Amino acid sequence: MSRIISPHTPRVTVVVGMHWGDEGKGKVIDYLAEKYDVIARCQGGPNAGHTIYRGGKPFVLQLVPSGIFYPAKTEIIGNGTVINLNLFCEEVKKVRELGGNLSGLYVSDRAHIIPQYIIDKELQRASAKGIDTTKQGIGDSYAAKANRIGIRVGDLAKPFSEVEALVKNALEELGVSGDAKAIAEEQIRLYKFVQENTGGVVQTSYLINDLIDVGRSVLVEGAQGTLLDIDHGTYPYVTSSNCTAGGAATGLGIGPDRVTDIIGIMKAYITRVGNGPFITELGTPDELARERALKPDDPEALELRQKVLRGEADPYEIGRYKRILGQEFGSRTGRPRRTGWQDLMLNDYATMVNNLNSVIVTKLDIEDEFPELKIAVSYRTNDQKVPELPTDLNKWKGIDPVYLSLRGLGNMRGAKSFNELPDQALSFLEILESSMRMRKKNLRIIGASVGPEREHLLMRAA
Ligand code: IMP
Ligand code: MG
Repeated sequence: MSRIISPHTPRVTVVVGMHWGDEGKGKVIDYLAEKYDVIARCQGGPNAGHTIYRGGKPFVLQLVPSGIFYPAKTEIIGNGTVINLNLFCEEVKKVRELGGNLSGLYVSDRAHIIPQYIIDKELQRASAKGIDTTKQGIGDSYAAKANRIGIRVGDLAKPFSEVEALVKNALEELGVSGDAKAIAEEQIRLYKFVQENTGGVVQTSYLINDLIDVGRSVLVEGAQGTLLDIDHGTYPYVTSSNCTAGGAATGLGIGPDRVTDIIGIMKAYITRVGNGPFITELGTPDELARERALKPDDPEALELRQKVLRGEADPYEIGRYKRILGQEFGSRTGRPRRTGWQDLMLNDYATMVNNLNSVIVTKLDIEDEFPELKIAVSYRTNDQKVPELPTDLNKWKGIDPVYLSLRGLGNMRGAKSFNELPDQALSFLEILESSMRMRKKNLRIIGASVGPEREHLLMRAA
């Protein structure tokens, strides 16, 4: 095959979450997508919920890459993802109603499907309950893939008897009952819907490599976050895919050296959904479990606000007020997210395992009412410094964070450019940046967001 190879190296940018997901990647991608030709998802599935705003209204995308509302982009859902075709078809319909560009959306024939029997299996497993998964069958679908009983989207193009046999075999191996014929029929019907309503189901690794060869730029949209990575996260309290930058290569079928830059996304504070260690957590999971979700204008929230402003709130109340202001309730599941202070140990780790070039800090405005801010600068156990994030979960239990206290960040709602941020906010970012530079010399914080809409993302001049 003769191909015209572009003389210049196009940008291939990977965007990853630095903590436990929900860092605001959707909004950042929505902003950056304009500058790229191709936007791709490489891992995860309907556990993700990327909130973007259209005309002031929030819209949650689960699988479709966040650039879908720009005209003339190619969007790829890569081989490393897992797809619930039912949910995916619903999402496609919703995107179409809102005017998204579906003819440029391609789905990998190697991505694995999540039929209902996989979800049922996950719901039965006590261990999945202990992790507090999103109950979408994500882990059990990746497990089926590893056990060679998974079904790939492309398999649904086979003759009916072969598809039925694949389903039958999976049901037997999993020890669950089900009507293989009906399941196969449904999955094939959904497959046909995808074929008819998107660019189609193709070998996306050929597609993406060809596009890069002819000079097209690519933006890879990571899902979840570094500490939820199956290899590098707080195992077993993790998801089941590689959310770190390496996942972009395996999840799309591109060589790692195709990637030209890696952007880490963090919030000004940290959140986590589900169980597992969280050193700088404000309050306890028990307190959280008793909590009622509040909107910022609820009388109870306003009372809490007064307490925070007077500096009389306890750690749980500070965390709760961050949750209310930041509306930290799961975009997929509605669960309240655990909240905590910024943590330089985690940032250093995320910088290292992703080899970040740049960082964007979101939701800076949520901090502006708080009279005080803390940053964990190091970890100690029995007065000994803990130099590395432990692999052993038991070792997380004895860790005490060492905090640096800062004055509140100041009001930044009117800021129209990065340099207009209040001095306190700029010095907060400076502290974060200089600590990550100890790991990666030229790393830069390239932007910060002060609100939910695209124009609230303030990029820093080069
Ligand atoms: P799973 O991905 O459904 O297997 O869930 C495993 C863990 O990852 C749970 O603690 C989830 O809450 C967490 N998780 C999965 N996806 C996301 C996400 O997009 N944002 C935040 N947490 C997530
Ligand atoms: Mg999310």
